[in-house]
Amino acid sequence: MSMRLEGRLAVVTGGAGGLGRAIALAFAREGARVALMDLDDAGMAETAKLLGAAHVSSHRVDLSAESEIHDFAKSFCAKHARLDALVNNAGLAYGEIAHSFTGLSQEKWLRYFSVNTVAPLILAEALRAPLAAAKGVILNQSSMASNTPATAYGVTKAALNSITYGMAHQFASDGVRVNAVEPGIMETPANVAGLPKETYARVQGMQLLPLHGTADDIANLYVFLASDEARFINCEIVSCDGGNRLRGWRY
Ligand SMILES: NC(=O)c1ccc[n+]([C@@H]2O[C@H](COP(=O)([O-])OP(=O)(O)OC[C@H]3O[C@@H](n4cnc5c(N)ncnc54)[C@H](O)[C@@H]3O)[C@@H](O)[C@H]2O)c1
Repeated sequence: MSMRLEGRLAVVTGGAGGLGRAIALAFAREGARVALMDLDDAGMAETAKLLGAAHVSSHRVDLSAESEIHDFAKSFCAKHARLDALVNNAGLAYGEIAHSFTGLSQEKWLRYFSVNTVAPLILAEALRAPLAAAKGVILNQSSMASNTPATAYGVTKAALNSITYGMAHQFASDGVRVNAVEPGIMETPANVAGLPKETYARVQGMQLLPLHGTADDIANLYVFLASDEARFINCEIVSCDGGNRLRGWRY
């Protein structure tokens, strides 16, 4: 049986660990080659080691800096005429952004929006030519927290859902699909370290299914959405949360 992403090229942001690493490895298992973007060099080196021959390159890029995104895209496009999948997974998810709504300065709001909401669009625009050449797919990492935002984090992800719809509209003329995924609470090193145990248990307890969500549950969905099996799925926000969506995130 042929692999579902055989011969494809993907860029995964936030590929240094957690969900990004799981997505990169799942893509590689299905035959894709993967380029990584992140701020965390050590984490990217570890993911690159796990990817082996499927690793294309690693790029230290601060996604809050537009000039760094453009510098990356210029060098990437010079080497790659086609890009099959852009996975906008990087995000600020823990700490203040996950438990504050009021009292944040304008500067902080804008920083959170710049990484979680605007960077996926700026990066996609910068990589538009190779995405169009491949009739590729853009997948944005949202969150169940976007449904009833009670935190700055949830607001940035709600706005990412809106940007996803706008992007689908804009990129369709090039045959590029744009979708987002809303994970529920999925075990990653960052969320185990970043959430108090009681919060983790309480949010998990809101699921309809009494299951433990893993990074692979999300990675498997990304493989499907990047594959030809999903060729008619566009402009969708897909939940993968064990039935937690309606309750949303409360710190
Ligand atoms: N794990 C969950 O339960 C869960 C649930 C819903 C949504 N998400 C989303 O999934 C994504 C990954 O989450 P995770 O749990 O793997 O956390 P994580 O912290 O391990 O992953 C986020 C990655 O983004 C990178 N990053 C942050 N700011 C950056 C910047 N300015 N430039 C470049 N890279 C930057 C980090 O270095 C990190 O590697 C995030 O967007 C998060 O909001 C996670």
